[in-house]
Amino acid sequence: MKKKGAPLIECWFERYVATFAEGASLPFLLQLKYDHSLRVAENCRTLAHHSGWSDEDVETAYLVGLLHDTGRFSQFREYRTFFDRVSVDHAVRGIEILRSFNVLHELPAARRRLIHEAVSLHNRKILPATLKPPIARYACLIRDADKIDIFKVVLDAIDDGSIARMPELTFHLDLKGPLSPDTLTCLRERKAIAYEQIRSLNDLVVLLLSWIYELAFEASHELILRAQVPDRIRSFLPPGDEIDTGCRAAGEWMRTRSAVYPAVCPKMIPGQGA
Ligand SMILES: [Fe+2]
Repeated sequence: MKKKGAPLIECWFERYVATFAEGASLPFLLQLKYDHSLRVAENCRTLAHHSGWSDEDVETAYLVGLLHDTGRFSQFREYRTFFDRVSVDHAVRGIEILRSFNVLHELPAARRRLIHEAVSLHNRKILPATLKPPIARYACLIRDADKIDIFKVVLDAIDDGSIARMPELTFHLDLKGPLSPDTLTCLRERKAIAYEQIRSLNDLVVLLLSWIYELAFEASHELILRAQVPDRIRSFLPPGDEIDTGCRAAGEWMRTRSAVYPAVCPKMIPGQGA
């Protein structure tokens, strides 16, 4: 039977990614991006489901997750880097590709627009304040789902030592360098930490910690707490009262503050490594 809707789009994505194989397999970093896309798609589905979205909206959320990094593949082939600053904005590139292949042609215009908008906004530092609610919730969803997977990828890679083999993903940071006082100050004052200011893996991990305050979905808090992210971050960073306080505060924040998008049944999220 001919595939339609989401399965057809999944097929397109598989075939599109396969065109970037070199020899029998994808380059290592593109394989990571492909795996990331699948996990982010699942994260989107989980967050949307546990926030009480309709079946159709859950499927749209899944597609946003699957397609959000479509631009990464041609970016890497052309520039051999994932640095947008020195290559191309991968979100803009992704939209160009989705449009040029007419990937979403079977979906109604409203769903198409939501997916395009959410993909195009997923890597913005800050979301525009004027976003309409339907777009804002998909934009927040993909940003949460993306972060949840980045927590996993970075912390797992630290734990198993593979972080040293992924300089592209850690921005060629000094893996053994000290934590910079500026980064710590930003964390204490709950100010955004810019990629440009981080110098070491310690700084990157503090940046991850600061992201906890940006999570918009209660279901994200649940996933991050289940995955023990604040504890894992604490165990990586150097000793110090300020770090202790920062990690505890982030955990407390998730347990006590209400999120922008509540979960309908926050305790029902299946135990999964976020
Ligand atoms: Fe991305």
